[in-house]
Amino acid sequence: MRGVISATAVFVVMVGTAIGASGLRPAPIKPVETYERRCSSCHGKEGAMLEKGFEKKYASGSELREIIESMPGAIGMRAEELDAMVAYARAISRREPFVAWTTQSVNAIEGEVSPGNATLRATAKRQNLKVVRLSPYRWRIELPKSVRLEDIEITAQSGARRVTLRLRESPYSHTK
Ligand code: HEC
Repeated sequence: MRGVISATAVFVVMVGTAIGASGLRPAPIKPVETYERRCSSCHGKEGAMLEKGFEKKYASGSELREIIESMPGAIGMRAEELDAMVAYARAISRREPFVAWTTQSVNAIEGEVSPGNATLRATAKRQNLKVVRLSPYRWRIELPKSVRLEDIEITAQSGARRVTLRLRESPYSHTK
C-alpha cells in the first residue's frame, strides 16, 4: 500500500514539475464544448444566433461578463471559467476563430477551436508542429522534446479571419 501511495506521489510531483517548469497553465474549462452543451440550444451552433457585434452593446468587459453570468447555462461557474466563456463570446461577436489550450499531458497539449471548419497551424520558434484534429472542435499537438510551451503559437484561420494564440500570453484567445 505504501508503495502505491509513494508511486502516486512521485507521479503527481513529476506532472506538477512538467507544468510548473514553464508556469503556464491550460484554460480552466473547455469553452467550446461547454458552449455547445449549455448555451447552443438558445444561441445556435457556434453562436450562429448571436448577433454579429453584440459585444458593442455592453459598455465594458464586466457588463458583458454580467450578462453571461446571468445565463441559465452559466450557473455554478467559477470566476476563471466565466472569463474563458466571455473570451469565446467575444470571438463569436467578432466572427473570428477562437482557439484555446485546454489539456496538458507530458508530451502533448490538446485544445479547442471554433468554428469547426477553421484550419490550424502551429509553430515553436521556426519549427512547424504537427496538429492532429481529434474532432471538428478538438486538436492535439505532440511535443518534440526540445519544444517549450512558451514558444508555441497556434494560428486558426476561417475564411479571411485569422487569430494567433501565443501560449506565453494566455491559454485562450480573445482575452480582450
Ligand atoms: C434558455 C435559453 C438560454 C440559454 C441556455 C443561454 N442563453 Fe444567453 N441569452 C438568452 C436570452 C433570452 C438572451 C437575451 C436576454 C437579455 O438580453 O437579457 C440571452 C443573451 C445572451 C447574450 C447577450 C447577447 C446580446 O445580443 O446582447 C450572450 C453573450 C449570451 N446570452 C451568452 C450565453 C452563454 C455563453 C450561454 C451558456 C453559458 C447562454 N447564453 C445560455 C437565452 C439563453
